Amino acid sequence: MANEIALTGIKPSGTPHIGNYLGMILPALELAQQYQAMYFIADYHALTTVRDREAMKYQTYEVAATWLALGLDPEKVIFYRQSDIPEVMELTWILACFTPKGLLNRAHAYKAAVDLNLEQGLPPDDQINAGLFFYPALMAADILLFDTNFVPVGLDQKQHIEIARDIAQAINNTYGEVLTVPEAAIREEVMTIPGLDGRKMSKSYDNVIPIFSDSKEVKKRVMRIVTDSRRPEEPKNPDTDNVYAIYKYFASPEDIQRVRHGYLQGGMAYSQIKTELFNLLEDEFSPARTKYNRYMRDWDYLERVLLQGAEKARKISIPKMAQVRKAIGVD
Ligand code: TRP
Repeated sequence: MANEIALTGIKPSGTPHIGNYLGMILPALELAQQYQAMYFIADYHALTTVRDREAMKYQTYEVAATWLALGLDPEKVIFYRQSDIPEVMELTWILACFTPKGLLNRAHAYKAAVDLNLEQGLPPDDQINAGLFFYPALMAADILLFDTNFVPVGLDQKQHIEIARDIAQAINNTYGEVLTVPEAAIREEVMTIPGLDGRKMSKSYDNVIPIFSDSKEVKKRVMRIVTDSRRPEEPKNPDTDNVYAIYKYFASPEDIQRVRHGYLQGGMAYSQIKTELFNLLEDEFSPARTKYNRYMRDWDYLERVLLQGAEKARKISIPKMAQVRKAIGVD
């Protein structure tokens, strides 16, 4: 078990919120107890959309600072930046030559962009860069380069893992067992962390509770969680309430019981449970917030951590690439 590899890429996409934390970061940190985890910042994937030098840098360090602040141990997890591993690019091309173009035509992100163009009466590929089209091949290289066994991802990435598997099998059918065919480890249980308005917590809905904003901002956000207008003394339904839905991820079992009882009996004001929730979030995240701010003031430190991670990753990727080159006859 311990030497099986669990690998996942993190796209730098702005300040993380508690939905990211519960849905992705926490499960990934837990998985790192059982597997050799390889977690990396997918900056070349981000390049399909991020076109600003400063934003690219900042967002990369933001991811690094986030994960380190929330407890990723870079001595245990191989934590690196995709663009520091040149073998990823080399493998991408080789994989591309074994990727049916039709498979990429059907990949979600590309297909969604095409559909949007068609809806608007534009040419199908209007404004679409070939990087977006190639996205799944690059992702397959990320995975296959390290003989990855498990890829923990959200449901939205399932198709990408299937594409990686297809490509690995195509190579293996041609040259023998060169690549490990990876399994997706889909996280479904926590997919429904609701945001302030009850819809899935997501930056695009502007309904998030950020992890690393200052206490005042977090408080303001918590107080904005939408509830019905039941007065304090009235009984309430915990199972349809947005505050309770978030609260239960952070409170102890005893507190959850007490609060649930308070809802059902009446006498529990929404403002009270919001305050409790805010306090729980403070307990959970204020040490991490301090660390995060420290890391964000010390990019040299983050750079060193990432480069050390890349060094470890390349101990795997360089020999793997040599094996692949040999298999295809370009050694
Ligand atoms: N495409 C993934 C996302 O958008 C990020 C990613 C890039 C990734 N390379 C990967 C995930 C390899 C898992 C494995 O979230």
